[in-house]
Amino acid sequence: MSTSENTILGLKLPTDPRWADLASVSLEEILTDHAFCEQKAATQCISLIQAYPAKTELVNALAPIVTEEWGHFRMVWAELKKRGYSLGRQRKDGYVNLLIQHAPKHVPVEEKLLHKLMLCALIEARSCERFRILSEELGEEALRSFYYKFMVSEAGHYRLFMDLATEYYSEEQVRQAWRQWLEIETQVLQLLVPRGDRMH
Ligand SMILES: [Fe+2]
Ligand SMILES: [Fe+2]
Repeated sequence: MSTSENTILGLKLPTDPRWADLASVSLEEILTDHAFCEQKAATQCISLIQAYPAKTELVNALAPIVTEEWGHFRMVWAELKKRGYSLGRQRKDGYVNLLIQHAPKHVPVEEKLLHKLMLCALIEARSCERFRILSEELGEEALRSFYYKFMVSEAGHYRLFMDLATEYYSEEQVRQAWRQWLEIETQVLQLLVPRGDRMH
């Protein structure tokens, strides 16, 4: 995979190439982790709606994403069942927890939403990149097309969070905040050892 492809969504670091090999040997684990990522994506959209009920554009944009992310959870759950696996337990999400720990400090209250949207966009972008790797590298054709669908969908969500940010903030504010989050993610990825049983 070339660096230019990786920069499509602006991400600074490509995923460690060892990750796809690791992921393919821990399919049950990765599907379980993926299922919970989808569940958390739905929950995150619900939390944003609860926190900003007066922002009509935000509610309009995110209400259907809740349904879509929950649909993703159900797709992954169906895949687990098809393979005779149970859902498994939710694991700590080291990637997201570290991103939150490294979030910019002392953000003015009116810019809190901007950073929440950037965090969501970043997680979508990285998930999209991981799904692309799975859609290209996994041995089983059915799984490759399974992950291709997620890649396309999460790319759309990345775009949606970025567009939503420009609805409430200037392009310059969004560009600056996005740059900050890309730096944060670069630091965070360097702290994490790639694990084939985790999406991130
Ligand atoms: Fe999703
Ligand atoms: Fe998503």
